[in-house]
Amino acid sequence: MTPLGEILRDEIRRDGPISFARFMDAALYHPEFGYYRRVRDPFGIRGDFYTAEQLQPVFGILIAEQIRRLRTSMGDVEEFTVVELGAGRGEMAGALSEFRYVPVEMGSRLPEGIRGVVFSNEFFDSLPVHVAVMHGGAARELRVGFAGEWFTWVEAGSAPEEVECYRRTYLGPLTEGRVFEAGLEALKWLDRISAALESGYVFSIDYGYTAKELVRFPSGTLMSYRRHQALKDVLKDPGEQDITAHVCFSALEGYGNQVGLERVALKPLARTLVEAGEADQFARALEAGSPGEEQQRRLQLKQLLFGMGETFWTLIERRQVRE
Ligand SMILES: C[S@@+](CC[C@H](N)C(=O)[O-])C[C@H]1O[C@@H](n2cnc3c(N)ncnc32)[C@H](O)[C@@H]1O
Repeated sequence: MTPLGEILRDEIRRDGPISFARFMDAALYHPEFGYYRRVRDPFGIRGDFYTAEQLQPVFGILIAEQIRRLRTSMGDVEEFTVVELGAGRGEMAGALSEFRYVPVEMGSRLPEGIRGVVFSNEFFDSLPVHVAVMHGGAARELRVGFAGEWFTWVEAGSAPEEVECYRRTYLGPLTEGRVFEAGLEALKWLDRISAALESGYVFSIDYGYTAKELVRFPSGTLMSYRRHQALKDVLKDPGEQDITAHVCFSALEGYGNQVGLERVALKPLARTLVEAGEADQFARALEAGSPGEEQQRRLQLKQLLFGMGETFWTLIERRQVRE
């Protein structure tokens, strides 16, 4: 058992089954043993997974172009900052260096009074979620217990009111036996972003679904990653493997609207990248010093457009003018 597994097991023995949000929060962000807090680098070939941000320089060049367009739509204002939520290894720092760039990671704070863009890539999918199952027409919480030597799912009583409210508002009616996640932490982040963003845009890239597509995920969307393998057992070895939940874009959009963030666009990542690159036929993105480098850039573009581009979405929301 992992050291974090022992801590969570003892907590469950003492207090009873814990919410999955508590389990996921500890598994990813426990100060000592959390997956994202350990010394070992989770990203790249020696880690557990790649993100689009590792496909540099092509991803950075195209995203910087998209952000330039957002700045132009704000009248090319002088004071313009790009805040990146969950900046990870800081992979975007070079590509976004023409702007005032502020990476936000665990332990750093969201700046106040932002004029510009709050950008993120695979940030919302790594925020803790609650899990519930439809039973007898109502949502019942799935909590995490411990039996024998394993963490197990335990169907508890009625789901907390915020979870039911999330389902009713953003997911709609669900059939018996459906498992779903409620991304309450993501909504809290939208509150914070909305309060901090004086003017400009929220530009979020992630994999996810809209309420209409939810039928594709009858057992929910939780997934773990380890050594480039996708694993279904998210309760295994807490602290040793990544845990993600697809982002519900209907919730990001719906709640965003409630807190003053108006949707400008929701589209597949591939379309956003094509729009950013088509003006010069991707010349800037593919301009390279050697044939080898050019080939590498072409490969990155292909991976972005045909691999990630179809499964990832971009949501752009604009700060409504405050009264
Ligand atoms: C899947 S990684 C993505 C990293 C990077 N954006 C990329 O695409 O390679 C998610 C990142 O979000 C960060 N994160 C999660 N919760 C956070 C929080 N509450 N505050 C700041 N960063 C957070 C994690 O530490 C992690 O680096």
